[in-house]
Amino acid sequence: MSKKETVTLTDNSTGKQIELPILRPTNGTPTIDVRALYKELGYFTYDPGFLSTASCRSSITFLDGEEGVLQYGGYPIEQLARHSTFLETCYLLLSGELPNKKELKQFTTIITCHTMLHEALKRFYSGFRRDAHPMAIMVGVVGALSSFYHDEIDIQNAEHRMIAAHQLIAKMPTIAAWSYRYANGLPFTYPKNNLSYPENFLHMMFSMPTEPYEPDPFFVKALDLIMILHADHEQNASTSTVRLTGSSEANPFAAVSAGIASLWGPAHGGANESVIRMLVDIVESDNDVQYYVDRAKDKSNNFRLMGFGHRVYKNYDPRARIIRQTCHDLLEHLGKDNEYQELFDTAMELERIALEDDYFVSRNLYPNVDFYSGIILLAMGIPLNMFTVIFAMSRTVGWISHWNEMIQDPESRIGRPRQLYSGALPRDYINIEKR
Ligand code: ACO
Repeated sequence: MSKKETVTLTDNSTGKQIELPILRPTNGTPTIDVRALYKELGYFTYDPGFLSTASCRSSITFLDGEEGVLQYGGYPIEQLARHSTFLETCYLLLSGELPNKKELKQFTTIITCHTMLHEALKRFYSGFRRDAHPMAIMVGVVGALSSFYHDEIDIQNAEHRMIAAHQLIAKMPTIAAWSYRYANGLPFTYPKNNLSYPENFLHMMFSMPTEPYEPDPFFVKALDLIMILHADHEQNASTSTVRLTGSSEANPFAAVSAGIASLWGPAHGGANESVIRMLVDIVESDNDVQYYVDRAKDKSNNFRLMGFGHRVYKNYDPRARIIRQTCHDLLEHLGKDNEYQELFDTAMELERIALEDDYFVSRNLYPNVDFYSGIILLAMGIPLNMFTVIFAMSRTVGWISHWNEMIQDPESRIGRPRQLYSGALPRDYINIEKR
């Protein structure tokens, strides 16, 4: 029998020692199991932002930030981007395996059959202000789904969990497109079962009752690709939010709504919107790219290059490389005089200058997935405030796959971090007259 691998931790003040087991992953960084630390030595670990902490075991997605590697179920993202479709990728993330033809057909039929929303859910939209951000609507409407599907969900039942997963993947494009339709005073468009998943979304976004609508096949393909690239990214902030919320055995629709809220922030999924605002500012400043690079380097200024940097990637984000090429191809498809070319040229120039600058090089700051994706979405006619909504629609499968994995994991417990208290010592209450 092979000897158990451990690290020894010594408390120099008491001389007490503890052997902590090293857990070996199938791929990636070994992990020290610190669960016995508090019981044995009376210490917590301190790791704000989870810089060195694995919060769970997971077999869904592998990420090597040093090498710039991303794999779903062991399949390289580059191969999935080239050969797969979003729905096939959803099947892979949910089940761990690529489907055969029959399984994919069945899965596609199930998703297609769940795209309609309960008619009563429609009324939730009218409660929002016309100018509400669509992400606010997403948080509200997806949260409201829990009121439609609560009593019938037994989260300990694998079949029930899978039904919830299918419902979420199927309904998210309808919810997303309707948030746009509502904000623009347009009639809600119902899904059509003869359309593919990305076509259906574009149909619900852009078709008018008065006109036939035929989406550009290039846009359909680009959207499908963007969704594959955003489908999962292991324990990022929004996925960890879904896990933490779901760890109390909360309703999965409510947990995903919490994930959407987390994704909204500009340090996470909201970055794609901020990138375009930044690029437009640069173009309007007569393309003074150097000024923006200098601002990002200036520590007295809180401006950051949006779409740059990543907690895990210390190398080029592999998704950004694929998206940059797609962006190039799509703009070529639109013709040389397209109105987005200047944004793309500015983004390329910004990347070139930043990647030659010691500030960015020494901190391993590279373009991330959001740097070029916004230009593609803009060129497809998607308004800026819908960018993060499309991210949420794509990431839903990742969130629900992680939730499903967590519920099944016998080691999973309610998420309850510890803290390093820095507040006042015990003191007596002072009556308000004496304060
Ligand atoms: N522009 C300028 N400087 C940056 C940037 C940036 N975009 N990102 C990081 N830095 C600098 C920091 O100032 C810090 O410098 P210092 O060591 O001198 O203090 C160093 O690089 C490390 O940055 P942290 O904030 O500690 O890195 P962290 O891992 O906590 O944050 C994050 C990662 C949030 C993505 C950060 O790089 C950022 O704010 N980027 C811009 C927003 C963005 O693009 N977000 C999308 C991320 S991808 C996604 O969610 C899909």
